[in-house]
Amino acid sequence: MQSCLAGRYFNLAAFDDERMVGFYIGEKAGPDFTLMDICVAPDCQGQGIAKQLLAEFIAYSKQHNAENLFLEVRETNVRAIKLYELAGFSEMSVRKNYYPSDDPNKNGFEDAILMGMTLLFA
Ligand SMILES: CC(C)(COP(=O)(O)OP(=O)(O)OC[C@H]1O[C@@H](n2cnc3c(N)ncnc32)[C@H](O)[C@@H]1OP(=O)(O)O)[C@@H](O)C(=O)NCCC(=O)NCCS
Repeated sequence: MQSCLAGRYFNLAAFDDERMVGFYIGEKAGPDFTLMDICVAPDCQGQGIAKQLLAEFIAYSKQHNAENLFLEVRETNVRAIKLYELAGFSEMSVRKNYYPSDDPNKNGFEDAILMGMTLLFA
């Protein structure tokens, strides 16, 4: 795994030989750290790569004195929600109709779920 961003943003990428197969991007704002994005190549999903990247995000945040972790996820992204719950995140609030959606069961939008975790007592 390697990092290539600096300053307020930080990241880590997972490689299989020369090929990048996943990454996360984080942002720090005082004691609040946010997972901006996490992504794994479709043909490499289900192998625990995101779980490892997320563990690295949490470890980095702890090492840099984060007190609170946040992220936002589409309500229909069941995979990602499960991943975050397993890591210790829980739902904090819902942003109604936050994301555009082409799901025929939706009215053109879907909700965002704001999830968080405190590290204060970890
Ligand atoms: C969400 C995503 C990052 C998961 O990556 P991944 O490497 O496949 O995840 P992992 O293999 O580490 O699995 C971690 C957990 O996610 C859940 N998960 C993974 N694949 C799943 C599937 N097919 N169905 C349901 N849950 C799944 C499981 O809870 C799994 O833990 P477990 O294996 O102990 O049960 C990946 O699907 C992805 O890149 N999606 C597109 C981008 C995206 O939606 N990013 C999140 C933005 S908020």
